[in-house]
Amino acid sequence: MKDKTNTKNHNSFVNNFKEELIVLSPGRINFIGEHTDYNNGFVLPTAIDKKVIFSFEKNNTETECNVYSMSYDKMLRFDLGAIKVSEIEWENYILGVINELLKITDRLQGFNCIIKSELPIGAGVSSSAAIECGLAYGLNEFFNLKLPKIMLVELSQRAEHTYVGTKCGIMDQFASVMSEDQKVILLDCQNQSYTLIDADFEPYKILLLNTNVAHSLASSEYNTRRNECEEVVTVVSSQYKKVRSLRDINKKMLNEFRDVISTTLFDRASFVIEENERVLQASESLKKGGLKRFGELMYQSHRGLQHQYEVSCEELDFLVNFSENNDQVIGSRMMGGGFGGCTINLIHKDNVNDYLLAVEKAYKDQFDIDLTSFITVPSQGTSIP
Ligand code: GLA
Repeated sequence: MKDKTNTKNHNSFVNNFKEELIVLSPGRINFIGEHTDYNNGFVLPTAIDKKVIFSFEKNNTETECNVYSMSYDKMLRFDLGAIKVSEIEWENYILGVINELLKITDRLQGFNCIIKSELPIGAGVSSSAAIECGLAYGLNEFFNLKLPKIMLVELSQRAEHTYVGTKCGIMDQFASVMSEDQKVILLDCQNQSYTLIDADFEPYKILLLNTNVAHSLASSEYNTRRNECEEVVTVVSSQYKKVRSLRDINKKMLNEFRDVISTTLFDRASFVIEENERVLQASESLKKGGLKRFGELMYQSHRGLQHQYEVSCEELDFLVNFSENNDQVIGSRMMGGGFGGCTINLIHKDNVNDYLLAVEKAYKDQFDIDLTSFITVPSQGTSIP
């Protein structure tokens, strides 16, 4: 869908806008449990205090919709009767959600929307899920669709599969919508049952270091990893009939297939099985205030992602190594799909400034790229202020 408007028109769109509803939709962090969600495993994410802000107004048309992205200074115009995949990525987050909503309701009407984002794009904090979920949440309210939150989560995930083309798991959308202030979510992706755990990290702060690289293979490699995990499940389930996902496979069972599957597949599956155990251990440690152990598990998770699952990159490894050499950083790992984006670090609050000066310099010297960073706190999921 091509943008036929100019900036002057965008200005008048913004100036004439009569805001009727505001929705705040946060990004997410994940402490541990990476690439486990689509394997029916465990994750430990929460929403953050940076968000995407949506404003809605009705435009008194049956089917005409105008969505203006302030971040891109771009307008997306579409008709509810003619939704199709766009060649422009951000438009598919919007169109994919509309497409899913149209499958379950006939109550949508024309609307205008302005989207402002505080989330860095491509940083692994799920700006895409925040957009999908915020739109779904807003339209649910605006047109009184009465869909429960979990349906908004699931339809946003489907939008990503069908329109964006990444076969993501449910973690990002779930965290964006279901999180609560000062809590982390231990989510069992097998049945979506979850426990909220107090996010008490005192005296440590949650520091995100953004590599500011986003290697282009991220999306294709993501789908490849998914397929590799499914291959292992296919092989193991030929003997163990009840096996439906890697969640149903333990180390002992996997070892029986060591000579049947490739080393790569063995490593992928081993990582997922071990990572699930780490999530459960980390949750227990957090509940008991065992933050040092929690941090060690984060480092272990990174090494698994680096060597067994092979979704890290040299910039991420550099940052994690740097953290590991500083005893004020008790935990550090790459976060999200991989191949760029952020590391998540637990750092003693007294050491943040000194550490940042050192790591920014070292990163710049090594890669000639400016590191960006922010401290974040576990926050409320999608909401109306
Ligand atoms: C991306 C996906 C999630 C999850 C992570 C890796 O963020 O959207 O579903 O699979 O990667 O843990």
